[in-house]
Amino acid sequence: MPLKIIGAGYGRTGTNSLRLALETLGYRTHHMSQLMGDSVQDPFVWQRAYDNPGSHPDEWESVYGKYDAAIDWPTVTVYEQLLKKYPDAKVILTVRSAESWYKSMCNTIFKFFEDDTKQHPEHITNVITFQRSTMFDGYIKGDLSKIKNKEELCWIFDEHIKRVKALVPPENLLVLELGEGWSRLCEFLGCPVPEIPYPNTNSSGESFDLYIKSVFDALEKQNLCPTIGKT
Ligand code: A3P
Repeated sequence: MPLKIIGAGYGRTGTNSLRLALETLGYRTHHMSQLMGDSVQDPFVWQRAYDNPGSHPDEWESVYGKYDAAIDWPTVTVYEQLLKKYPDAKVILTVRSAESWYKSMCNTIFKFFEDDTKQHPEHITNVITFQRSTMFDGYIKGDLSKIKNKEELCWIFDEHIKRVKALVPPENLLVLELGEGWSRLCEFLGCPVPEIPYPNTNSSGESFDLYIKSVFDALEKQNLCPTIGKT
């Protein structure tokens, strides 16, 4: 089953709400939570593609085979390769201001990165290692102090948006502003607008810890006994 939708937006641009929206519209949607919460998903598939672009095009089926949409990290690190593999896919670029994105990152994912008091199962450790080395086009790599470089990170965020807009033909690209709702999304995908409100999830204030917990609960169901929160 080829991917019909590829997400090119960075994390903290409303990707979890978009995942729920796409699922409401009938798309089986891959998101970071699928990689983190499913030990069968092999992070080294993305790592190999990231290290040697285009070298293992046949491996994508092993991670995306059950899905027809893929958004958020790690998809965003390899979206150009995926577009070569799935040239008919439509691209959704979720955006917000760089400033508000950076603030959201500081309140959530960067805190998670910096917290080394927790021990994780091997699968999560592999995912986090890959995540740190590839996020923001490899800018952070092993040097977590770089997450303090607000100006550079905001520049990378804006450059990423420009690059996606330059690369993807306009008729195949939807640039979706945070908080926009259903209308342009449904028009782009040729679907009727659902009668329920567009999802609004994963805010910094209320639910990041809960969100991470739900990912770990999914792993625990696979009997991997995560140690987060139990140390
Ligand atoms: P804040 O951290 O500023 O609260 P992601 O799911 O990619 O991690 O993005 C989460 C961010 O998108 C959170 O930002 C969350 O509040 C915001 N968000 C998600 N859905 C939204 C919606 N429908 N309207 C406005 N903001 C939304």
